Amino acid sequence: MTVSSAPGKVYLFGEHAVVYGEPAVPCAVERRATVSVEPREDDHIRVEARDLSLDGFTVEYAGSTGDHPDVNVPTPLVEAAIGYIDAAVEQALDAAGESDVGFDITVESDIPLGAGLGSSAAVVVAGIDAATRALGVELDAEEIADRAYRAEYAVQDGQASRADTFCSTMGGAVRVEGDDCRTLDTPNLPFVVGFDGGAGDTGALVAGVRDLRERYGFAADTVDTIGDIVREGEELLSEADPESDPDESLLVELGNLMNFNHGLLEALGVSSRSLDNMVWAARTAGAHGAKLTGAGGGGCIVALDPTPETQTGLRFTPGCEDVFRAELATEGVRAEAEHDDASTGETAE
Ligand code: MEV
Repeated sequence: MTVSSAPGKVYLFGEHAVVYGEPAVPCAVERRATVSVEPREDDHIRVEARDLSLDGFTVEYAGSTGDHPDVNVPTPLVEAAIGYIDAAVEQALDAAGESDVGFDITVESDIPLGAGLGSSAAVVVAGIDAATRALGVELDAEEIADRAYRAEYAVQDGQASRADTFCSTMGGAVRVEGDDCRTLDTPNLPFVVGFDGGAGDTGALVAGVRDLRERYGFAADTVDTIGDIVREGEELLSEADPESDPDESLLVELGNLMNFNHGLLEALGVSSRSLDNMVWAARTAGAHGAKLTGAGGGGCIVALDPTPETQTGLRFTPGCEDVFRAELATEGVRAEAEHDDASTGETAE
């Protein structure tokens, strides 16, 4: 068995606009998806998923990829998770020059699904790494990131940037602008995440922004302005000492940019009442800035606050289900030691 893990991420700036070639700065955080892969004698794929903010589930289906699994849990999120795993398997088989190989796959994750923390990217990245290593092939990080992007692109009908998958593969803070992907040296920013317990439909949210952008010049300008915010933020980060804690003035300036970024995302229709509530609660509690992270529609916000105040404020905010401090994950995808694989959940064939 081979086991790999990859981190989730928060967007400091730039989600949605990155789909249209503007830069974005996502930062990997210490919440990981772990994927264990064991090749099978037949060409079946058996997926067991645990801790995906759902009751665990297990599905088994014939044909290495492409066939629809017979899932008796009709949750769109479960189907989405299976789609990403399927796409990761397809990329791994292609990289190894194999077909008709089946796998037993176990996914364990402490990243809530579809909540803006890059759960799908982390599963795809870790899945490609574990499955290729199971087939005796070691891919370098660039190829894992590229194949993970292609997997997300396929599942999301072409509505994906390289940001989530590159960040999850490399770890740390990264900058993505079109095909140009780089790692950044940044200080460890004091991220606080608030989660409303919900999820957004990335495909529908990206399509909504696309429609607005095509319909209204001012919506296209809004997307361009998010790009300006990211460039301004990058400049601030490049002047900071990556080895020291960020000073107050940097946090104040980054926070102002995050607030502006959230306002523009709200204007583009991708926020929600609960995300806005959490953003305002974080600001009221003293966060330097707060914004939604990821596709939006529900899920998570990210705030900047080195003190415990924002966590306390969010804990008492109606509609906020979970709050945690998110440390920068300096390591991206990595091989893990094997561990016991006790089976839980249902099996549908
Ligand atoms: C989703 O985590 C981020 C979006 O910008 C889509 C993407 O970049 O693929 C909304």
